Amino acid sequence: MKVTVVGAGAVGASCAEYIAIKNFASEVVLLDIKEGFAEGKAMDLMQTASLNGFDTKITGTTNDYSKTANSDICVITSGIPRKPGMTREELIGINAGIVKTVSSSLIEHSPDTIMIVVSNPMDTMTYLVHQTTDLPKNRIIGMGGALDSARFKYRLAEALDAPISDVDGMVLGGHSDTGMVPLTRLATRNSVPVSEFISEERLQQVMEDTKVGGATLTKLLGTSAWYAPGAAVSSLVQAIACDQKKMFPCSTLLEGEYGLNDICIGVPVLLGRNGIEKIVEIELSNSENEHMQKSAEGVRATNGLLQQ
Ligand code: LAC
Repeated sequence: MKVTVVGAGAVGASCAEYIAIKNFASEVVLLDIKEGFAEGKAMDLMQTASLNGFDTKITGTTNDYSKTANSDICVITSGIPRKPGMTREELIGINAGIVKTVSSSLIEHSPDTIMIVVSNPMDTMTYLVHQTTDLPKNRIIGMGGALDSARFKYRLAEALDAPISDVDGMVLGGHSDTGMVPLTRLATRNSVPVSEFISEERLQQVMEDTKVGGATLTKLLGTSAWYAPGAAVSSLVQAIACDQKKMFPCSTLLEGEYGLNDICIGVPVLLGRNGIEKIVEIELSNSENEHMQKSAEGVRATNGLLQQ
């Protein structure tokens, strides 16, 4: 299993690190445009191998896509991250050009790969990869929902004063401060609805804190987060590599599901060796559905900027 990660910045390096630590891939190639940067990160990470006990071979390359040839999975993290006060949507001008170039260069050397898109605005960048490559829809996956759901679980555990392994929940919709749809109604603690333990008001707070999860970190760090995004990517890569048929909310091209067409947005999917093997349609309440449709309007507005 060969995995390429484009962008050796904080998010890309975290992806490579978590993939390696989980020890399921034979090879990870890190690629960056900054001279020597990916090579340096790869060497530093390889020097943790004997300490952390992994056998994955990590190599780095400065923009040489021939080194990425025949990758089973390619992860695109390249582009600029947001600064405090910025929305993900504001990054579109620069990142669209980068994602277009990167995805077509990857496809030249790995025509049958599965692509995971992390660059922001993520749902629109996933849609752009559809426009740029001929990959079938099951091979283009936007990473946002897995991260947002991890942040949701963190906030739920905090509100419940429970260990995180006790809670479960999912966030659908667009990967944006206003677009996320945390499914509080379906969130549970050991299969008991969380509404049994906390007030509606506290649950609303959990929802709001989840939606601004990325912005909260950007304010604290001065740039966007990397540990949880890297860990979320590694979970998706592992589900594909190990053919787990595991369910994650991911951004995928919808063709009628959830009443939506011609848009990439976060919905539950099953991930296995063929990428997105199934889109899972669950029944949403009226308000969740309204929230979802509104989220889609936001993503469409950002997609509209691609034409400009
Ligand atoms: C975040 C970025 C990766 O939410 O979108 O942290």
